[in-house]
Amino acid sequence: MKRRHFNQMMFSTAGHLRGSVDSNQPVAPFSPEENNENRISHIDQTVNIADVRLLAQRNMEKSSFDYVDTGSCDEYTLRDNIQAFQRIKVLPPLLTGVSRCDLSTVAMGEALSMPILLAPVAAQRMFHQEGGPAAVRAASTMKTLYAMSSSVGSSVEEIAQAAPCPKWFQLYVPKDRNVTRKLIERVNKSGFKAIVLTVDLGEWKDADHRNKFTLPKSMLVKHLRDIGFHHITNSMSQQDIQAFNEDAWDLNLSWDFIPWLRKHTHLPLLIKGVLRPQDARQAVHYGADGIIVSNHGGRRLDGMPSSIDSLPGIVEAVENDVEIYLDSGIRRGTDILKALALGARAVLIGRPYAWGLGAAGENGVRKVLQLLRDELINAMVATGCPSVHQINHSLLQRS
Ligand code: FNR
Repeated sequence: MKRRHFNQMMFSTAGHLRGSVDSNQPVAPFSPEENNENRISHIDQTVNIADVRLLAQRNMEKSSFDYVDTGSCDEYTLRDNIQAFQRIKVLPPLLTGVSRCDLSTVAMGEALSMPILLAPVAAQRMFHQEGGPAAVRAASTMKTLYAMSSSVGSSVEEIAQAAPCPKWFQLYVPKDRNVTRKLIERVNKSGFKAIVLTVDLGEWKDADHRNKFTLPKSMLVKHLRDIGFHHITNSMSQQDIQAFNEDAWDLNLSWDFIPWLRKHTHLPLLIKGVLRPQDARQAVHYGADGIIVSNHGGRRLDGMPSSIDSLPGIVEAVENDVEIYLDSGIRRGTDILKALALGARAVLIGRPYAWGLGAAGENGVRKVLQLLRDELINAMVATGCPSVHQINHSLLQRS
């Protein structure tokens, strides 16, 4: 992979205006109220994730909002993540009423109140001044799990101490294996419950290029020092720090990295970014404990298939060997029902809670989790499922 592809991910450059590549295209797959953005001025007025997005758009810097909102290149994959869910139809059996729904589940051995987890999301202080710790507190209140991005903008220790919910640590790998090893040691010591190795690298977003999206120097310095690059200081020039950042990360990862990582941690390991059944089998072969079926929310390579369309093949290949999770495109409780029906143990959300953070900090993230939880309960009542473990493919119409 060319280094500059990775740079955006690590905040050195970026920019764009969503969907402006082709003005004939529908620009957003998910903008039911796009022309009515003044309707929502407080988080209490939001009734769905689209409302939360509108409030985030109102409250956030344009370049930060675009950084969250947009997808790679022409955004085919971003749109397909939404449209693929729309193509799947739910066909509820009649007269199978339930009076109570149990959403509780277990993820990598951790008991959770619901199958909705917070995905690793970078740069959270760009969305709200309280950043990642605010999202961790919301996850804790809602008794779910927070997956920390190694680029979140807070240290491993800050996230660990923010609130007591179970946490996973997502790793982007420094080239310097000593730095990587020490980072993993801190993760081991800080009470994280698993490591997520993100393997779909490279981000190419026109909006970020147009907006020249980049972290302020002080945030980039903090991020690099939090990782363990202690020689990086605010006294260095922005240019030198950017140049260092562009060269610091390992883009040459291969399957051989997994045994190396295993030597340095006993934590369960999830591989994030899997779309091919063959790769899922490889992950199992290399001893992964979990797989996250994901196309990075359509932020990586445009033209990749949606996660939900990729899920059945992966379930068929490895369902008895590892825990299978899904992210990319979850916007409604029915999307969660569909993902669980097709074999996911739980889903992760990225943009919805990043919008929540931008809209109203901790309260916004909590509201997003409440909305999706309540929509999932409604979908379970309508399909006669008293427990998330009873959601299965018989609820879906076969195409
Ligand atoms: C991400 N994602 C991500 N993934 C990861 O492994 N490490 C990271 O640092 C980031 N950073 C990041 C920033 C922002 C702003 C977004 C929106 C996403 C991807 C994320 O974990 C997840 O795969 C997608 O967001 C899921 O798609 P939805 O829910 O956004 O449609």
